Amino acid sequence: MIDRSNALAVFEKLYGPGDVRLFFAPGRVNLIGEHIDYNGGFVFPAALELGNYVFVRVRDDDVVNLAADDLPGTLVSCRLGQLETKRGREWGAYQFGVLDEISKLGIELRGMDMLFSSTLPFGAGLSSSASIEVVTAFAALEIAGAKLSMTEIALLAQRAENNFVGVNCGIMDQFACANGKEGCGMLLDCAAVRCEQIPLNLSGYTIVVGNTNKKRGLADSKYNERRAECEKGLERIRTKRPELKNLCQLTEEDLPEYEELIGDETVFRRVSHVVSENARVIESVLLLRKGDIEGFGKLLNASHLSLRDLYEVTGRELDAMTECARAFPGCVGSRMTGAGFGGCTVSIVENSAVDGFIKAVSAEYESKTGLRGDLYPSNAAGGPKEIF
Ligand code: GLA
Repeated sequence: MIDRSNALAVFEKLYGPGDVRLFFAPGRVNLIGEHIDYNGGFVFPAALELGNYVFVRVRDDDVVNLAADDLPGTLVSCRLGQLETKRGREWGAYQFGVLDEISKLGIELRGMDMLFSSTLPFGAGLSSSASIEVVTAFAALEIAGAKLSMTEIALLAQRAENNFVGVNCGIMDQFACANGKEGCGMLLDCAAVRCEQIPLNLSGYTIVVGNTNKKRGLADSKYNERRAECEKGLERIRTKRPELKNLCQLTEEDLPEYEELIGDETVFRRVSHVVSENARVIESVLLLRKGDIEGFGKLLNASHLSLRDLYEVTGRELDAMTECARAFPGCVGSRMTGAGFGGCTVSIVENSAVDGFIKAVSAEYESKTGLRGDLYPSNAAGGPKEIF
C-alpha cells in the first residue's frame, strides 16, 4: 500500500489544497501463455494487489497536469486539444495517449491535476505501463461521468500504447489490469477478446512472484523480432492453409507437416513454442479445475523451457532464478512471466515452504548472478476501483 498521507502532502504541495479523489488499477502476473496474445490464442494472467494509484482533482480549464511521487520535480502538462503533441516514450505519453484515445471516442474529458503513485516495480514485466494506462482511463472516465466497459478500456489502452507510445504490445496486459477478479485467473481468448474467470483453487499452494532485478534491456527490439518471425511462419503456412487466421489455430499434431514448408529452422522453433504453449494454457485450466496443482506446476516448467529453448526470450537471470526455484522441495513449478529478457518469474510453492523458499532462492540467485532477487507471495486480486 502507498503512504497516502505522504502522497496527499505531495499533491497539495504541487496543486494546492482542495478535494481529491483516489483511483487504483492493478498490475498483472501472467501464470501461463507467453507470447501468445499476438498469435491469437489463450493466455492465463491474474491481476495483482500491487498496482498504480492516481490522486485526481478536476480543474476548471482544459489543462491536464501529470506528476509522480517517485519522480520529484517532474510535472508534465498538456491542453486536452493538443494531446497529439505528446506522442513518444517520455513519461506522460502513456497517460496522454489514453486521454487521446478516449477523446477520439467523442467523450468530453475534463482538465485534471493528477499525481501517480506506484507499488509495482517499474519495467519488471508486471505490466506497470498497462496498469498506468488503465488507471488513467478509469479515473478520467469516472471524472467525466462517462461509462465504458472494462474491455473497451483495455482496448483503448492498447491502442494508446501501440499508436501513441509506439510499443507493439498485444492485448493481454491491458485486459488483465482492467478485468482482474479476486481469487481468479483470467482465461483470455485473445482473438475474441473475451475471458472466463477461473477460480484459482490453489489449496495448500501460494503464487510467488520473483523480480530478477534485471532490466529488460533488449525487450522492445527482440519483442518485435519475435512478432515478425511469427508473422513469417504464418505467412508460409498460409500458402497451404489460406483460411488460417493465426498460429494458435494449429495443433501440435499439425507441426511436422509444416516444418519443411516453413523452411527456416528458427521460425519453426518459434511456431512450435506458440502452438505448444497455447495447448499448455488449455491443459492448465483443465488441471486446475481438477485441483491438480502439481500437474499445473509441471506445465509452468515446460513453458519456461520452451521459452528458453524454442522462443529464446529468457536469459541468464530468469534461467537462474527459475532453476533455483525448481530445485527447492515444495516448489511445484516455476517460469518467467511477461515479455522476458529480464523482469519477473512466477512460482507455485507449498504454503508451508514459502518462507524457506524465498530465503533459499534469494540467496542462491544472488550467489549465481550477483543480483539481489525480490521474491514475494502474491494473491490474485481485483480490477480498477475508486478508493475515495
Ligand atoms: C508483453 C506484452 C504482452 C505479451 C507479453 C508476452 O507483456 O505487452 O502483450 O505479448 O509481453 O506474453
